[in-house]
Amino acid sequence: MTSCTTVRPEGPEEAYAFAAPFRAPQGSPIRELFKYVGRPGMISFAGGYPSKDLFDREGLARALDAAYRSDPIACLQYGDTAGSPLLRRSLARLMAAREVNCSADDIVVTTGSQQGFDLLLRTLIAPGDTALIEEPAYPAAIQALRLAGANIVTVRTDGDGIDVDALAAQLDAWPQACRPKLLYTVPTFANPTGATLPRARREALVRLATQHRIVLIEDDPYGELRFAGTPVPPILALADACPGGRDWVVYFGSLSKIVAPGLRIGWAIAPAPIARRMIVAKQTSDLCTSPLSQETARHYLDSASLESHLRSIVGAYRSRCEAMLKALTHFAPNEVICSAPQGGMFVWARLTGGRDAADVLKRAIERNVMFVPGHAFYVREADASSLRLSFAAPNEAEAFEGARRLASALSQT
Ligand SMILES: Cc1ncc(COP(=O)(O)O)c(C=O)c1O
Repeated sequence: MTSCTTVRPEGPEEAYAFAAPFRAPQGSPIRELFKYVGRPGMISFAGGYPSKDLFDREGLARALDAAYRSDPIACLQYGDTAGSPLLRRSLARLMAAREVNCSADDIVVTTGSQQGFDLLLRTLIAPGDTALIEEPAYPAAIQALRLAGANIVTVRTDGDGIDVDALAAQLDAWPQACRPKLLYTVPTFANPTGATLPRARREALVRLATQHRIVLIEDDPYGELRFAGTPVPPILALADACPGGRDWVVYFGSLSKIVAPGLRIGWAIAPAPIARRMIVAKQTSDLCTSPLSQETARHYLDSASLESHLRSIVGAYRSRCEAMLKALTHFAPNEVICSAPQGGMFVWARLTGGRDAADVLKRAIERNVMFVPGHAFYVREADASSLRLSFAAPNEAEAFEGARRLASALSQT
């Protein structure tokens, strides 16, 4: 009889021989905070979650019911990897309202836009390839680039998003042999800064991407959440005016922030050679996005419920943002300097007096209030005084009380 004793010379971690990016993986710093969110009485300025009070529960229940009744087999069966043709048609109409000229065939439905980014990285990034990213940046984009093994190079931003002059100089000085493959940005109501890139900078970005043959990724989950200022068209819409520009822009949209993240419906609009490869990558990822979810989303979009829902959430986010900023000015006028976003879900802030936001967070959690310290949004060197405050979840009364608790934490740090 042969013995089948497995020899494991080292501890189990080493014995699994994990692939390089997973040997010592860093989890999402924001998701780590979520253990505190459910604590009784906690007021959270931390997550980028839509408000639970503002979901269109009735409208979505009707859409789910209509989807199942009208075509149960379409809901229950596997679907096309690129997405349901009918949902893609509805999304093309949604994009037309955003001034983007595209057809249903140009759209790939993804399981959240996060999957779209992951699929794109699989098609473009081999370990060691250079990827540019605005900084501060959306942490899950940084995390995805790290797991893809990218050489991550940051691009400077100011209160209006990417500093395109600095980027142009950075690219002009770049060695030809190893040009960056992509540039990731959230140009409208950015996560975390809330900043919106002005039109002229968007046009300049397209020109730079086209000239240097860099895939420009426009991640746009927040664009419809405008409550002040003048709308700016998506970069993708402006790319048509730059010869060859459309060949270098990939757009990600999402229903997560404007309808519900539980649907997990996102979409990508990419140049055909990229889209084709993303679909092949998706075949090995999830075969298709949940058909039940896609059908529900389609019925919701086609029922015109989105327009009135958007009016209601945008109004609520406006007054929640105003309430939070007013309360912070009242309770901590000299301790916190805040941005004033024109939409989205986030205020970007800096603490004065050399305070470290991570230290303040410890005191804040003791007082049942939370935010995300800035280090989560930096690739290497963080600005320790920075923090992100989301105004989406707490209502006006909670925003007031949360600011009072935050001021108390600040006074002890
Ligand atoms: C900038 C940005 N992109 C993408 C996502 C993820 O969106 P989805 O739920 O569509 O995957 C988020 C979620 O917080 C986000 O802030």
